[in-house]
Amino acid sequence: MRVDGGFAACAVLAFLPGIQAEVSINKSVASIWEDFKNAVDCGSCQALLGGLKLVSGFGEQFMVDVLTGVCDISKAEDSDVCEGIIKKEGPALHDAFQALHIGSHSTQTMCANLIGLCQYPKVRSHALSFPSPKPKKSRPLPSGKPPIKVVHFSDTHVDLYYETGSSYECSKPICCRVFEDKYAPGITKTPCGPFGNPRCDPPQELQESMNAAIAEINPEFSIYTGDVVAHDVWLVNQAEALDSFNHTYGQMEKTLGVVYAAIGNHDTAPLNLFPSNNVPDGNNQWAYNALAEDWHALTGISSVQAADEFGSYSAIHPNSNLRIISYNSIFYYKFNFYMYQEPMEKDPNGQFEWLIKELQAAEDAGQRAWLISHIPPGVADHFHDYSQYFDQIVQRYEATIAGLFYGHTHMDEFQIAYSNYADRNYNTATVMGYIAPAMTPTEGPPSFRVYEIDPETFGVLDYTQYIANISDPGFQEKPQWLPYYSAKADYGSKLSPPVDPNAELTPAFWHNVTVAMETDPSIFQDFWARRVRGYHVTACEGECMTTEICTLRAADAQFNCVKPKPGFNFSKRDVHAVEEEHHCDHAGLAPLLGKIARRARVARQMEA
Ligand SMILES: *[C@@H]1O[C@H](CO)[C@@H](O)[C@H](O)[C@H]1NC(C)=O
Ligand SMILES: *[C@@H]1O[C@H](CO)[C@@H](O)[C@H](O)[C@H]1NC(C)=O
Ligand SMILES: *[C@@H]1O[C@H](CO)[C@@H](O)[C@H](O)[C@H]1NC(C)=O
Ligand SMILES: *[C@@H]1O[C@H](CO)[C@@H](O)[C@H](O)[C@H]1NC(C)=O
Ligand SMILES: *[C@@H]1O[C@H](CO)[C@@H](O)[C@H](O)[C@H]1NC(C)=O
Repeated sequence: MRVDGGFAACAVLAFLPGIQAEVSINKSVASIWEDFKNAVDCGSCQALLGGLKLVSGFGEQFMVDVLTGVCDISKAEDSDVCEGIIKKEGPALHDAFQALHIGSHSTQTMCANLIGLCQYPKVRSHALSFPSPKPKKSRPLPSGKPPIKVVHFSDTHVDLYYETGSSYECSKPICCRVFEDKYAPGITKTPCGPFGNPRCDPPQELQESMNAAIAEINPEFSIYTGDVVAHDVWLVNQAEALDSFNHTYGQMEKTLGVVYAAIGNHDTAPLNLFPSNNVPDGNNQWAYNALAEDWHALTGISSVQAADEFGSYSAIHPNSNLRIISYNSIFYYKFNFYMYQEPMEKDPNGQFEWLIKELQAAEDAGQRAWLISHIPPGVADHFHDYSQYFDQIVQRYEATIAGLFYGHTHMDEFQIAYSNYADRNYNTATVMGYIAPAMTPTEGPPSFRVYEIDPETFGVLDYTQYIANISDPGFQEKPQWLPYYSAKADYGSKLSPPVDPNAELTPAFWHNVTVAMETDPSIFQDFWARRVRGYHVTACEGECMTTEICTLRAADAQFNCVKPKPGFNFSKRDVHAVEEEHHCDHAGLAPLLGKIARRARVARQMEA
């Protein structure tokens, strides 16, 4: 009802002189800001979404203007950042709010995901169908043949506009660019070095340095789990994204051998927005086409299938038994506004159906499969529903899947899939998800990983994490890429009995590592420090530790123990702490709404 009122008012507005429309925008800004301040629970959060839906009824431009005004009042970002982000995501936001039904599963999900004020609603059950019943076979044992090396790197985020000597202190989401004269080389007292700074995305020189280190290792092939483009989210456009693909993939083609890559949430513009075929506007075909070209060149395989349809492909590594399936997990990302529809699509672009087809083909041919993608299915960033549907596929093909490989979090993590999440033990642990940390130094030193892989089963026998220590005084002269720790030596040795040197690092092995973390918290603390490569390690004990271990034991996100965090009653210091914590999803409109909500809550407290 109220929506129709909105449309009528829109029609009237169009005929009003500019000055009155302006009054209306200002009134709406004030009223939406009040709604943000009053959003203290699940009900009032949905009322806020209702207010925004009403605003969307006045048209896209009106909505963009109102939200920009609210963002300015909140001081969540500089006003050019507010304006840039909101303008870019305006069409998607407008569509999303037009499609919302207040009080529905989708609005509860939105309040849980973006503002932390509702609990996650229960997953809507949906049974996928499979062409054949699950066979009675299990993971093959290691072949005993000499392992091959495979390198895994992720989240490169090279900033093409990085300027050595510009300031690493600035008021923007990333620095090391001359946003204002005072940040210029020679003027600023906080100059960025030639190879990067933790407050910035890195220059291309860092990637060249890392690629040279990888080339020296001479891997059989590499995997890259996405996010080429920098975090200049309020500025980035198609031209910059394409230019970034060209530089990053061009560099890889020159210096690395075969690389199998996946699409990241930053690998389109505006970022995060991946409409399915059912969404009339919004279209990422230009990005899929450009990436398909780069991916063909990097793999040298002409029969990479389906690369240009939705940023996914399947390829058989030449002269091997390994099928590598790169899928587009951004459809399932909580910041992909297009998915908040009622009812939510069950299988955007039919990708689950396609995965089943590919895995069935692998099973029928007696192949092993690796799934590579950007966003790990078990993290809080993943829609719970899609995580559960994906897990059904993983469980059905557990004997064929040798491993799952991800990036996105910028952290060194892992997650285990279980056949029974109500009884998570070494017997029910079925599939491993490896999460490699980033090259961009924003959450810890730049890093890549070298796996030892069984050449027949393609199981992971070990891995060594390499880092270039950005805090090291010599880093800015020449980054040194050195081994940091190894899974077998540094986790396997902690088990009793210690893991066999020739054994695979099975899901059961990793489950046992999480058990060891519980009995000896120093093992957890080692993991916790490695997660950020020893950089700014925060305290994590008690409930924090329990939740983190639970997250390691969940490739199905509904079981990851992460609770939506509204962050009530912040002190100003706490707000900064939470913003630090949210730094890596400091990217685009959805997290901006969360940030505005936190600012509104502080404003409300100051008034009270
Ligand atoms: C609306 O708000 C803007 C920004 O605060 C202000 O500059 C402008 O004068 C206001 N317009 C009216 C008609 O009050
Ligand atoms: C990058 O752009 C140049 C010039 O247009 C083109 O020749 C080259 O093939 C591109 N490389 C990649 C990897 O896209
Ligand atoms: C990196 O270098 C800093 C400064 O020398 C040092 O304190 C830190 O321990 C190093 N980190 C690692 C993981 O070696
Ligand atoms: C895991 O722990 C169980 C129970 O202690 C043990 O029986 C099993 O062999 C261990 N498996 C691995 C791979 O470490
Ligand atoms: C926040 O503080 C107010 C006032 O002190 C209190 O009434 C309210 O219960 C607190 N909310 C939470 C969630 O702690």
